[in-house]
Amino acid sequence: MERLQKVIAQSGVTSRRKAEELMKQGKVSVDGVIITELGFKVKSGAQIIVEGKQINKESKVYYVMNKPKKSLCTLNDEHSRLTVIDVMGVKERVFPVGRLDYDTTGVLIMTNDGEFANQIIHPSFHIPKTYEVHIDGIFETDQIKEMEKGITLDDGIKTLPAKVWITNKDFSKKLTTFDLTIQEGRNRQVKRMCEYFGFEVKRLHRKKLGFLTVDGLRQGEYRLLKPFEIKQLKRLANEGKLS
Ligand code: URA
Repeated sequence: MERLQKVIAQSGVTSRRKAEELMKQGKVSVDGVIITELGFKVKSGAQIIVEGKQINKESKVYYVMNKPKKSLCTLNDEHSRLTVIDVMGVKERVFPVGRLDYDTTGVLIMTNDGEFANQIIHPSFHIPKTYEVHIDGIFETDQIKEMEKGITLDDGIKTLPAKVWITNKDFSKKLTTFDLTIQEGRNRQVKRMCEYFGFEVKRLHRKKLGFLTVDGLRQGEYRLLKPFEIKQLKRLANEGKLS
């Protein structure tokens, strides 16, 4: 924690002495509260406004990560398990856009842009997501058709039309691998869609979110999104808006 006037001076908007004067005049606020006390210390990331202007606005960053197995999409965990924030270790205060389960790997966007995150995960936006799914059983043709048409999950909600592409059927081991493209992102949706037919998901990897992949990234690796990718994702979210 640093003294407020020092943080203001370091941001380059004014000198430390001028910052103190502005504080005394009630022209400085921290997280919405006017601060006149010169000994006041601020936490990093606090919102500081000097004469109506935010001085320390963190610039927006957008990453795509190949989420590793055994990591949580939460900001912190009471059992000290690894989170995707720990995996990233960047200076910006990023958070995951949506959730993948503890054991799921693959495409995960990390950002500090809340508005963008809401656009991507809002239920009324339908960005296609493709998962590579490994199940313990033989996925029969009539079951595939049923899944593609839409099934009613345990909470009574019917899934939107989906696409299944079988990539392997191992009759001796009774295992099926397939790509599944869904338009929604309900809680544990893929696992629940498989449970509907009595299958257990052995492995789950998100291959694609819209056009975005983790090609070239190993588990735990990440890269900055390119400006055109951010633009395209925003456009896709808007195009996919059904209601
Ligand atoms: N569906 C699931 O069941 N789990 C995930 O992690 C993602 C989609």
